Amino acid sequence: MAKNRTSFICQSCGAVTTRWAGKCDSCGEWNTIVEEGTSGNGIGGGPAGLRSRRKGRPVALASLDGEIEDAPRIASGIAELDRATGGGFVRGSALLVGGDPGIGKSTLLMQAAAALARRGHRVVYVSGEEAVAQVRLRAQRLGASNAPVELAAETNVEDILATLSEGKRPDLVILDSIQTLWTDLADSAPGTVTQVRASAQAVIRHAKSTGSAVVLVGHVTKDGQIAGPRVVEHMVDGVLYFEGEGGHHYRILRTVKNRFGPTDEIGVFEMSDKGLSEVSNPSELFLGERHAKTPGAAVFAGMEGTRPVLVEIQALVAPSPLGTPRRAVVGWDNARLSMVLAVLESHCGVRFATNDVYLNVAGGYRISEPAADLAVAAALVSSLSGIALPADCVYFGEISLSGAVRPVAHAQQRLKEAEKLGFAQAVMPVGPEEMTAGIAGKSYQPSTLADLVARIAGSRRGRPED
Ligand code: TYD
Ligand code: MG
Repeated sequence: MAKNRTSFICQSCGAVTTRWAGKCDSCGEWNTIVEEGTSGNGIGGGPAGLRSRRKGRPVALASLDGEIEDAPRIASGIAELDRATGGGFVRGSALLVGGDPGIGKSTLLMQAAAALARRGHRVVYVSGEEAVAQVRLRAQRLGASNAPVELAAETNVEDILATLSEGKRPDLVILDSIQTLWTDLADSAPGTVTQVRASAQAVIRHAKSTGSAVVLVGHVTKDGQIAGPRVVEHMVDGVLYFEGEGGHHYRILRTVKNRFGPTDEIGVFEMSDKGLSEVSNPSELFLGERHAKTPGAAVFAGMEGTRPVLVEIQALVAPSPLGTPRRAVVGWDNARLSMVLAVLESHCGVRFATNDVYLNVAGGYRISEPAADLAVAAALVSSLSGIALPADCVYFGEISLSGAVRPVAHAQQRLKEAEKLGFAQAVMPVGPEEMTAGIAGKSYQPSTLADLVARIAGSRRGRPED
């Protein structure tokens, strides 16, 4: 077999083929297949035939209750970051932080590096994208230049690992970014799937063998895929996405994968001219621009992991000039909106067929919970009828296709958060939990969506100025 062989690798999903094609059979993406050389050492997950044929040697097997040398986690002291990682960086693990270019990944990690270094940990920050002077400038801006972070501008993995092996073992290593790294073991250009995979493999192996925590930074493409580094997602122990909307200053750090903790947590930050600051009460931020008494707005009491988040849902239902009316959603699931509209049409007698429907989650926030159904339905009915919903009311509950309102988890926490922020009443499902929050006494618990629609319609006559 030839020692050097070229293969064709999809830059989106990492599938390997023997010949070029315009479309990847594996992920269906167009123009993502690129010719790459593999130098016959099997690094980069090349074809099995290329792997070395040495005989395996037995490794020592260990028991579960053996000694663990250090505290497994190093907390940064930045509460929102520690919340997203599940209590701090885990020693001997690799974490991928993904996000659009310019969203603030380097800023966040520089702040984390400085915080950890000030707590006496050895932190090494390797920048492959910026020169040392640039990184220093940012650190100055963040007020972090006096933190004892060790800095290098380097892209070769072998050089980086050799540097890390010198002196005391680092507690945290930040590699910014994985797309710029390259290893001698693979022939292709930096940023290609082969290089990214081979580099990540070497770095992760280093993390596991030395016990340092490694953070890899990865840029994401427009459609939300981590380009190239997507193949790294299954190799690392955790994946965090740093997201934000253009025009808004806040950023959300979302846990997508975590082998050592929960995956539904978020950390909320605000970007200022002095870097990222923590937002410990996101509800206040998302409700900040709220104008009471406008039809079409409903406050949803949601949960993100262990934390309640209150956010305003805005709907606009307007007569449509089009044969097929428009349905546009920002911040929620399109299919779920269609479902709620269908339930309103068929079980509640509310017609949207000749109307355009726009739905927006305030502040550019994104909801993934089905518990928002009830708030969405209330906002839609309110906009269509022109009746403003009570300004001091929160909504949550899932709607089934039969039109029934179904209970959701954590009702108690949602109500407590609403009460804390000055809300006085709630519309929620009948649940099995015993409610202790004061606001629960003033709650309305419809068993079907039709009940809620009738109540909103009735409020025009009964309580005109609620
Ligand atoms: P950066 O961390 O370089 O983004 P990434 O590493 O994800 O590409 O952040 C760059 C953006 O953040 C840039 O548009 C400027 C802005 N920024 C601030 O607003 N305030 C600050 O203190 C810093 C350091 C950056
Ligand atoms: Mg950067």
